Amino acid sequence: MRVLVDGDRGYIGAVLVPIFQAAGHEVVGLDVGWYDGCDFGPQPGGYEQRTGDIRDLTPADLEGFDAVVHLAAISNDPIGHLNPDATYGVNAHGAVHVARTAKEAGVERFLFSSSCSLYGAGGDAPVAEDGEFHPVTPYGESKVIAEQGISPLADDSFSPSYLRNATAYGSSPRLRADIVVNNLTGTAFTRGEVRLQSDGSPWRPLVHVEDISRAFLAVLEAPRDVVHDQAFNVGRDEDVVQIRTIAEQVSEITGAPVSFADGAGPDARNYQVDFTKIRTQLPDLAPRWTIRDGIEEIWNDARERGLTAEDFEGARFVRLQRIQELARSGRLDLATLRLQ
Ligand SMILES: NC(=O)c1ccc[n+]([C@@H]2O[C@H](COP(=O)([O-])OP(=O)(O)OC[C@H]3O[C@@H](n4cnc5c(N)ncnc54)[C@H](O)[C@@H]3O)[C@@H](O)[C@H]2O)c1
Repeated sequence: MRVLVDGDRGYIGAVLVPIFQAAGHEVVGLDVGWYDGCDFGPQPGGYEQRTGDIRDLTPADLEGFDAVVHLAAISNDPIGHLNPDATYGVNAHGAVHVARTAKEAGVERFLFSSSCSLYGAGGDAPVAEDGEFHPVTPYGESKVIAEQGISPLADDSFSPSYLRNATAYGSSPRLRADIVVNNLTGTAFTRGEVRLQSDGSPWRPLVHVEDISRAFLAVLEAPRDVVHDQAFNVGRDEDVVQIRTIAEQVSEITGAPVSFADGAGPDARNYQVDFTKIRTQLPDLAPRWTIRDGIEEIWNDARERGLTAEDFEGARFVRLQRIQELARSGRLDLATLRLQ
């Protein structure tokens, strides 16, 4: 298939694109380039990379594609808090705009990168795809609005799917330091301690970035009736864990002791997720990675690529810091989240 992947130059995109290429699909990327140069090893290549803002897409840009994979977004809570209106502008209305434009251009498949964080502050029971939404941040809320705006577009000629990813972990040519497994492992490497920002009690569903990418591929290639207007929680039951369990694993593997940041307390984001649907509807998609393997992968890459504390805690790998750096240097307008 000929597939447009937007957000291809981010953490997930840099892993997903080569997996799609290896499966024989022709990929074209579209990204505004916020994290260009924030590299962790060699970048993927061998495909057309367009530079632009998803909010400016027109049907002519999407003509001739069989599918759109929509990854581009403000990708975490802290940036979402900087300017909630702009977050909704990109993540919610921007996502609906891309879906509507794809439909107008005759694109048949639309894969939306949603998030388990739309379940927000869940109860004690694991929540399935038909569970209630209780997002606790503008980021989580933006994913709810996007799904609810895209779904009415589904018809005989347009099949959107919503991949509600667990929190990702693992190495990527565009590494992120602000997601929990990566953060704890990288801090163990650069600072010699596993530093917890909360008391470690919250539950969090986790999934390796390569398994997320393979889930996108599986949905892309699945029969239409299996994925048409369907949401899938992307992850696996064994990897819904408390943050303190991750910290203990990182400590065991790296030998670095666990410590708590000043004022570390409970975290409002606390939820458990049920992955039965993806396991049964897409049975060939068995996740390959364990959290333990992911910790070892990041640790080995950190050693090979010479990860420094300055990079790991700075604009290169922390999304919020990079956005603030772009704003400080006058290259990004925070009110609109547009590059100048
Ligand atoms: N990483 C996770 O743990 C996780 C979990 C669940 C869902 N997701 C979702 O997956 C998607 C990708 O996440 P990621 O971790 O790769 O994020 P990322 O921040 O590393 O990458 C996002 C990419 O989108 C681009 N982008 C942002 N706004 C844009 C715009 N208006 N126009 C064009 N490009 C734009 C950025 O330049 C960046 O390259 C996001 O939608 C995110 O919400 C991520």
